[in-house]
Amino acid sequence: MQITSLEGAGAEITGVDIRHLSGAEFAAIRQAYADHGVIFFRDQSLSEDDHIAFARRFGPININRFFLAHERYPEIALVLKEKEQKTNIGGGWHTDHSYDAEPAMGSVLVARQLPDAGGDTWFASMYTAYDTLDAATKEEIAGLRAVHSAKHIFGSAQNNFYKANEDTGGRIGNTAAADVLEDVTHPVVITHPLSGRKALYVNPAFTTKIAGYSEEASSALLMRLYAHAMKPDHAHRFKWRDGSVAFWDNRATWHWAMNDYHGERRLMHRITIEGCALN
Ligand code: SIN
Repeated sequence: MQITSLEGAGAEITGVDIRHLSGAEFAAIRQAYADHGVIFFRDQSLSEDDHIAFARRFGPININRFFLAHERYPEIALVLKEKEQKTNIGGGWHTDHSYDAEPAMGSVLVARQLPDAGGDTWFASMYTAYDTLDAATKEEIAGLRAVHSAKHIFGSAQNNFYKANEDTGGRIGNTAAADVLEDVTHPVVITHPLSGRKALYVNPAFTTKIAGYSEEASSALLMRLYAHAMKPDHAHRFKWRDGSVAFWDNRATWHWAMNDYHGERRLMHRITIEGCALN
């Protein structure tokens, strides 16, 4: 088994069949995941049961509240865009589940049907985003907390993101669960629970405010942090092929699914693993 660091973010792991991992291979994969924030595998052939078994080795599975589920496997959320649909799921920089008090650790995404061209996913390293901040900004954000919410994305308000894009109906639902979810705060800089490294933990989709700041000051700081975090140097563009698998850590990365394949179907199976409170 070989682990190769990728330009910008992440690592590719080759020479392994993730259905049959020895104890040593599993430990090396877990370490690579902690070190790189996102890892990629090629040429795998996972059934749904294999996908579930691989994810379960890393922790309990989170059953998604908002995504359409696989009809036989509730553990698998469908990330789907049909030929005639215009809006994709995850089509902007974000990290999943930051709206939860204990945000999910990460997800294992398996390509099931790909467009002939396009549909790549970008991943950005929030370790690198933090490490490359200037000293004054690191000092400014030390000790700050930010508010995260799901309401404006998944809730029932008329102008929420997915409602405003009506053709996501059927793929995204359960607005009531978002409406009753209390907004939460997390540190703007976390100490990553697996690696012990510092990572920037705000994201353009679910972070609504720096706690205790005016709207204006909060927006100015968040825009500055986002502009820095989304620099291409901190990111890797992953090109999917049949048999590709990506396993990302929500606490160490952002991701962005590109929506550049209108008229073609793209279907991914996503399993999300539970996480913990962040400090
Ligand atoms: C997601 O945001 O989970 C979707 C990623 C993708 O479809 O590439």
